[in-house]
This record gives sequence, C-alpha cells and structure tokens, in this order.
Amino acid sequence: MSTEFPQDFLWGCATSAYQIEGSPLADGAGASIWERFAHTPGMMAGGDTGDVACDHYRRYKDDVALMKRLGMQAYRFSLAWARILPEGTGRVNTAGLDFYSRLVDELLVNGIEPIVTLYHWDLPVALDDRGGWLNRDSADWFAEYAQVAFTALDGRVKRWATLNEPWVVSDGGYLHGTIAPGHRNKYEAPIASHNLMRAHGAAVKVYREIGRQEIGLVVNIEPKYAASNQPCDVAATRRAEAYMNEQYLDPAMLGAYPPEMKEVFNGGWPMWKSDDLKLIHQPIDWLGINYYTRSVTKHDETAWPVMASSVKQKTATYTETNWEVFPQGLTDTLAWVKTRYGDIPLYITENGAAFYDPPEAANGRVRDPLRVDYLQKHLLAVLKAIRQGVNIKGYMVWSLMDNLEWSLGFAKRFGIVHINFDSLERTPKDSAHYYSRVIASHGGILEDIV
Ligand code: BGC
Repeated sequence: MSTEFPQDFLWGCATSAYQIEGSPLADGAGASIWERFAHTPGMMAGGDTGDVACDHYRRYKDDVALMKRLGMQAYRFSLAWARILPEGTGRVNTAGLDFYSRLVDELLVNGIEPIVTLYHWDLPVALDDRGGWLNRDSADWFAEYAQVAFTALDGRVKRWATLNEPWVVSDGGYLHGTIAPGHRNKYEAPIASHNLMRAHGAAVKVYREIGRQEIGLVVNIEPKYAASNQPCDVAATRRAEAYMNEQYLDPAMLGAYPPEMKEVFNGGWPMWKSDDLKLIHQPIDWLGINYYTRSVTKHDETAWPVMASSVKQKTATYTETNWEVFPQGLTDTLAWVKTRYGDIPLYITENGAAFYDPPEAANGRVRDPLRVDYLQKHLLAVLKAIRQGVNIKGYMVWSLMDNLEWSLGFAKRFGIVHINFDSLERTPKDSAHYYSRVIASHGGILEDIV
C-alpha cells in the first residue's frame, strides 16, 4: 500500500504511571506528591485517587497483549520515581525497578518499542518535603534517579524522555495549584520551571556519559492565534506564546529564555545564572510534542498573571475538557517547531480527546464517532506537516486507555480502550479499531471516508 509516512514512522500510544498503574505503595515504593494530593479532601473530582486506577501494575501483561492485538509499534509510558527510589535519592528499591524491567521485556517480546519518560509529574514526597522543584538540588536528585534508570534499562530502551510537559508541572503545580503539589504562587512558578529545566539538562548530561541510544524532551504546545489585530490582543498573544510554548523550548534548544517572561512574571522573574542556561542547553536527539488544542487569544486583565485568555469559537466542536477541536493547529505547531528550533526529529508524543463514553460497554462495543473523527483529522494534519517537509518520526495517541485524568478524575475519558472502572474490564472502542486499521495500512487509509 502506498503511503507518504516515512518507512520508520512509529505508530503507538501513551500513558503515565500514576494515571494507570494503581498499587502506588506496592513492593516497597515510596509515596509521590500525587498520593498526597489525591488523598487531600476537595482536590480531586469525585474524590477519585490513583489507588487502583486501571490496575495496570498487576495487569501489565494483559495490557501489552492488548496493545499487540491492536498492532501498536511503540508504547510511551513513564517510570514512577518513588517506586525506584522510595526516598527520592539514595536507596534503590529493586522490586520497583523490576516492575519496569519486566514491562520493558514484555513489550520487547511482543515487538513493541518502549519509549520511557522519566518524569510525568509524580515527585517522591520525600523530595517535596525538601522543597521539591523549588530546591536547586532537585537537578542533582533527578540526575541521580536518571542514572539508576539508564543503567538498568538503556540496553533495552532506545528512546528516553526526561520530562513530560514542564509547563503543566509549573503552571498547574506551582502557579494555579490545580495539580500536585497544589501551590499557588507567582514567585515559585519561575523557580520550579527553571529547576525542572536544570534537571532536564543534568539528566541529558548523565545520559551522554552512560547512554547509548536517544534522549529527548516532551512539551505541550498550544498554538496561539490573536483574536483581533488590536495591539492589546497581539501583545497578549505574544505573552501567551512565550509563557506556554517558548518558556521551556527556548532555553533547551536556543540557550535563552524569551524576553517576554519578565513581563509575564513582573518582578517574580529572577536573573538566572548563565551557567544554568549552559546546563539546560544540552544537545538532544528528538523532541516530543503533545498537542490537544489551540487558543484564540485576547487581552484579559482578569487572567492572572499572563493577562491573556481564550475566546470561545461559536461554531467549533469542544471536547469534555472544554478544548476546541482544531486539527490545523497540529500542522501549524509542527511547522513552527521546525522553523524556530531547526530540523530535529519530532514525535507527536500525545494527541487525543476526552469525549463522553458510557461507564459500561454495550455488548462488547463502545461507539465513539467523535474520537474516530478527531483521530482521523489529526492524523491527516500530521500528514500535511510531513508533506511540508517536517521531520516527523512517530505518533502516540493519548491514551491507550481511559485513566485518571489527574484532578478531573476518571470521568474524563481519553482512552481508545474503554475501562469499566467497576470491573476494570478493557474494551477497545471503535476508535481503537480504526487506529488499528490506520496502523496496519501505515496511514494508507487515512484519506478514506470513515
Ligand atoms: C498530560 C497527560 C494528560 C493529558 C490530557 C497531558 O497534559 O501529559 O497526563 O492526561 O494531557 O489532559
């Protein structure tokens, strides 16, 4: 079948540890900040927690078998730091590390390539008690943990990512308090961001000493389009772009922060040491782009502290998380990354949508036409970027299965596989069957009417 996707293009799916594993304290694991956050009354929709989640920690073999049946070629997942180093540094918990070693082996025998994220938001509480990402030592803690993971798994894992979405860690965790550790402080957010990026740089440095494969960084990009050509909307769009899309990629790829950061944090933005920027600016092998939606941006005095907010689009479809469905934004994002940061190999490390699905499958079937449509249109948007010459090496749908959507709980379903959260039964939705066919044709059926 003729197709324009590069021959080595990888089709896969993504998850993260706390969202699916359950058994967070099993086999000697330490607690993470999500354990604490989820068990604090009022923080989680419906009082949901990751105590059981999808029970993937115990059912990982079945889940790998399911991925194989669906034809997945790659699986992006994250390691829970506190399973491996219960105190965050020092003592290694072999039983925790073994879980990931078994998972990697299981993937490999099934012909699925593991893509491992070191940090998907679950800092060990022992480190949060020492100041978490506000402590400059966090870069060394992370490098120590990374070294343990690389040493154990690098022979078998070809693709590593340091951080998942540092913007969300800082914006949600330290600026607005919507995710763990739940702080709300304009002066902390830049420090957390900067230390996250120092940690990224420190881990890449360690990787260059002991790793033999590839390492990258995963960011979420939400392209900003000015709501009007009024100067205040144009300026707000620039601020929003710098704050969300450039704050992490600029130092990692260009060695400097965008100048607008000072304006955004207005007195809360420190003068960073140039040595720190050197540490952050390490050559990396690939970039992971998570894309969900765009923002049509206007000036808004009430939107602290960036003073920019999104204008609702009257005729657009919105997902259950209130995100506009806008496939063209994915093409624009991929092209923008190439223009601004150069021709580095790109993976779409997350893309997907929460639409309403019933809690139970009906006779073994879950019809999710909106998600099928979302997938098809976004994959066509990837194809469009490939046609424009962007170097795209793979696509990971978010998510393999319905899971704990952080503080929004289990009600927001992003999976292509349905989870019945009472029985934990897995049912591939229509979108999973569609994606399987796309994979089998290497993208060849994408332009067909569904
Ligand atoms: C995160 C995922 C999350 C998804 C949907 C990304 O921000 O990496 O963990 O579930 O988006 O909100």
